[in-house]
Amino acid sequence: MKPNSIITLTINPSLDKSTHFNSLIAEQKIRCEKPRYDAGGGGINVSKAIAKLGGSSTCVFTSGGSSGEMLEELITKEGLESTVIKTKNWTRENFIAFENATKSQYRFGFPGNEISDDEKDKIIEVVSKVKADYLVISGSLNEGLPTDFYQKIAETAKASGIKVVVDTSGESLRKVLETGVYLIKPNIGELAKLIGVDHLELPEVEKAAKQLISNKSAEIVVVSLGPEGAILVTKDETHLVKAPKVEKKSTVGAGDSMVGGMVWALSQNKSLKEVIQIGVCCGTAATMNEGTQLFKVEDVKRLFEGMKG
Ligand SMILES: Nc1ncnc2c1ncn2[C@@H]1O[C@H](COP(=O)(O)OP(=O)(O)OP(=O)(O)O)[C@@H](O)[C@H]1O
Ligand SMILES: [Mg+2]
Repeated sequence: MKPNSIITLTINPSLDKSTHFNSLIAEQKIRCEKPRYDAGGGGINVSKAIAKLGGSSTCVFTSGGSSGEMLEELITKEGLESTVIKTKNWTRENFIAFENATKSQYRFGFPGNEISDDEKDKIIEVVSKVKADYLVISGSLNEGLPTDFYQKIAETAKASGIKVVVDTSGESLRKVLETGVYLIKPNIGELAKLIGVDHLELPEVEKAAKQLISNKSAEIVVVSLGPEGAILVTKDETHLVKAPKVEKKSTVGAGDSMVGGMVWALSQNKSLKEVIQIGVCCGTAATMNEGTQLFKVEDVKRLFEGMKG
């Protein structure tokens, strides 16, 4: 069977600049090592993860100014297919600095620049023309964008028969769920917020997920549980998958890796049990690498073999 096609959307990407330094001392000049640049943002990471697994996707993202040009170059170098939506304002840059003395990572995130009304319309227009089986909407929204913007995108994609996968939080997620999508991947804290409670314990998660499914908010709810793994719930099935024990270096990108793994598995028509197993393996494999790196496919394969075995 032909694999299904995937589009990822990143409205608020970033040019990530990472470096190492010895120790953080106020008022003194802190000497940093030569920086490394990476293309960042939810959907872009999901596309990178899919590519690592041998799949393909088209990465739709906004880009403006010199930082945007550099972002585009990095995405081309990664070998990702892309559709660029140009913006007048520059793409934001994020700064990630690793302190050698304490082995601590500091992540400075900047707000995404404002998107004009014309640019907003352009994003919707691009989405209305895409032909794909899956659209992955992931990451934060730029400052000033209305919280129903992802909802509009989801409605547009659904009208073309595309299955919409969403990984976002807060009000944007709540709005998207009014429209109803194919799959959502909140972590347990995001799920608690969504249903208006401070905290959820594992035994309460399945019930909360089932409620979202019966409300027609989503067909598949995957709740990630950090080091505990994840739970996938549909109307008829529930699968709890424990995360394998590994030596954790950094959890950055674990959520995006997980979503990439799951969408790739869905596109390959895997069973839902395998979808969640592959998702957990990708998320956990991502924690074995430092900084913004996602996962190594060898690690995913090894963890997955261990799960089957
Ligand atoms: N400490 C850990 N040890 C092992 N696996 C982990 C750990 N943290 C995360 N994972 C893996 O990554 C998956 C997603 O992690 P998590 O629940 O932290 O998502 P998230 O909060 O959305 O992450 P992000 O901050 O990247 O958005 C988990 O289901 C698990 O497989
Ligand atoms: Mg997340």
